[in-house]
Amino acid sequence: MILGLCGSPRAMTTEYALRKALEMLGERGFETELWTVRGKRIGFCTHCDHCLKGEGCVIQDDVQELYVLLRRAEGLVIATPVYNGGVSAQIKAVMDRTRALLAADPDVLRGKPGIAIAIGGDRSGGQELAIQQIMTFYTLNGVLTLSGGFFGANIGASFWSKDTMDGIKEDSEGFRSLRKTIRRFADHLEEQRRAGAP
Ligand SMILES: Cc1cc2nc3c(=O)[nH]c(=O)nc-3n(C[C@H](O)[C@H](O)[C@H](O)COP(=O)(O)O)c2cc1C
Repeated sequence: MILGLCGSPRAMTTEYALRKALEMLGERGFETELWTVRGKRIGFCTHCDHCLKGEGCVIQDDVQELYVLLRRAEGLVIATPVYNGGVSAQIKAVMDRTRALLAADPDVLRGKPGIAIAIGGDRSGGQELAIQQIMTFYTLNGVLTLSGGFFGANIGASFWSKDTMDGIKEDSEGFRSLRKTIRRFADHLEEQRRAGAP
């Protein structure tokens, strides 16, 4: 299963782009699941260090269900709106909370491929910085970070929404970056399956 993680508190442009990404993966034969921060109870990590005992997170909120999905996921797609030139606070909170998952099993994400999608209201509003933040999260937790490569998707999928649904739908460059990123991600997943990865 490929897990799509949506970092927007609304069912708007970020969720739209992520759903498109998961549809593309579905067309390549992959089972997908979408988990959104929208409407969820998500507490901040308080650095209590309970998780370092390997017994999970003391905060009993909706992130507990995400831990199960992250364990099962074969690959990750994290999509975030750009907030103040970076990821949304919700996505950052979720990233911090994965400390509990990784403390219990440091290899839980190791080698799983991951890609990033960022949607900004402005053309150059910080999409690349938000993607970089997701990639840093991937790198430090052993996720294999992928992009769509040169000529259009250098570090992942980047959208200019102009703060509207019409804006994102009209962003043909954004969709080109998404298609290229998904193509490489799906190719990699297929290669991994052929090589007999779990
Ligand atoms: C608190 C806040 C901060 C934002 N900061 C930025 C920003 O720094 N750069 C940018 O391009 N857009 C920024 N935006 C606009 C959103 O990224 C944009 O409207 C995006 O499409 C929203 O995604 P959604 O439709 O999934 O909610 C910001 C929006 C909010 C609410």
